Amino acid sequence: MTLEDIRIAPSVLSADFSKLGAELADVRDADLIHYDVMDGHFVPNLSFGLDILRTVKAHTDLPVDVHLMISNPDEMVERYLDAGADYVSFHYEATAHAHRLVSLIHERGAKASIALNPATPVLALEPIIDDLDMVLVMTVNPGFGGQSYIESSARKLCRLRRLCDEHGVSPLIEVDGGISAKTAGKVTGAGANVLVAGSAVFGAPDRAAAIADIRRAGALGVSKSA
Ligand code: DX5
Ligand code: ZN
Repeated sequence: MTLEDIRIAPSVLSADFSKLGAELADVRDADLIHYDVMDGHFVPNLSFGLDILRTVKAHTDLPVDVHLMISNPDEMVERYLDAGADYVSFHYEATAHAHRLVSLIHERGAKASIALNPATPVLALEPIIDDLDMVLVMTVNPGFGGQSYIESSARKLCRLRRLCDEHGVSPLIEVDGGISAKTAGKVTGAGANVLVAGSAVFGAPDRAAAIADIRRAGALGVSKSA
């Protein structure tokens, strides 16, 4: 795997909201913009919704990866697609109709992803893995930026990779929570190739350098395990 195979997705949650346009311009070297929607119900925190997503879309040329940490994705997914979501990740734990949602996202021409909380086993995706463009493995309990990476995540990523191999599919594998230049190699070595980073990018004075550092650390992790 080369540097270019690793995609970096800065999380807007850690940006300075008073100058969102400038913050987005600062991360133009990234590959995706990660947009965390929290409803104060599925997770114990509130973030932002449709209006700010439209603002983000207007200020970046990168694809926007919408992470829905909400209890009612069935009711809300269409509105996020209307607002311009390029990737939609909904939580496995939040719906009884994952297949229906994936079909809807595809009908609208977007990329479909399912997010798994740390306690949700990879095997939950077995019936639907063939249909996914991406799997989002939470490497912290969702709800807040700036938490510590959960070390057992690497084992879970290996299980996910095995499941994908068994099915002969290779969806993108995204990790979210506690990802920095220190942890990037652990997750890429276990199969992740889309790295969400909030505080590690927006908390750094030089965002382009932070993105490059995480990308480099990720590529090293992969070659170490290859
Ligand atoms: C956590 C969110 C993350 C968060 C990551 O619930 O889903 O996307 O922004 O932040 P860091 O990278 O600071 O852990
Ligand atoms: Zn997220």
